[in-house]
Amino acid sequence: MQLRDNGLGFSPITVALHWIVAFLLLAIFASQVMIGHASSEAQQMDFGQVQNLLGLMLFLVSIYRFWARITSYHPLPVGTPNPIEVIISRSVAVSLALAMVLLPIAVWASRSAAGIEVGLPGGLSIPTLLPVNDTLKHVVDVLFNIGASAFLAGLALHIFGAVKNHFLLKNNTLKRMLGKHVEL
Ligand code: HEM
Repeated sequence: MQLRDNGLGFSPITVALHWIVAFLLLAIFASQVMIGHASSEAQQMDFGQVQNLLGLMLFLVSIYRFWARITSYHPLPVGTPNPIEVIISRSVAVSLALAMVLLPIAVWASRSAAGIEVGLPGGLSIPTLLPVNDTLKHVVDVLFNIGASAFLAGLALHIFGAVKNHFLLKNNTLKRMLGKHVEL
């Protein structure tokens, strides 16, 4: 099995992790909606713990993924896109991968600075290693909001690019990310 990406294609690991991350992100958003609609405080806490676990999984997978992205070749683009578009789309993809490492850290840091443990199902929790400090929490929250907004904008552009390639340019960019072997 091809373990790393090369100039000719993504490895099956990259493809699998790409969609696992997309699914985890979706599950985190869905759990946020469920927290908002919870019928009791206990249920809210349960959903919160599941959300924290999803965030932890996202973080751990993303450490590998970011490392793999910056240490292996990005396969050649499908078709003949303009080089500026290639540079932008690749920079956005790398930034999305990095954001999935940094944003979970910011959530943990913000809670730590507020003295709140990140609780996990089964009575486990992630230790709060930072001092309780209002100013620190404020700074982390501002950085999180900037990072999360940039991430959402980048993700919108990324999905727009995928949709454009698939429906408008009718090439195999999306199919390749779904595991199809594409001859370049
Ligand atoms: C509906 C959601 C998504 C679609 C349709 C989509 C589509 C794609 C496509 C088609 C590629 C291949 C681009 C190429 O050939 O160079 C790609 C690559 C990539 N995408 Fe997405 N994507 C989605 C969600 C995400 C999310 C949520 C993230 C990260 C948070 C992400 C990060 C990346 C990265 C880092 C790459 C480069 C390959 C890798 O290292 O995984 N994508 N995506």
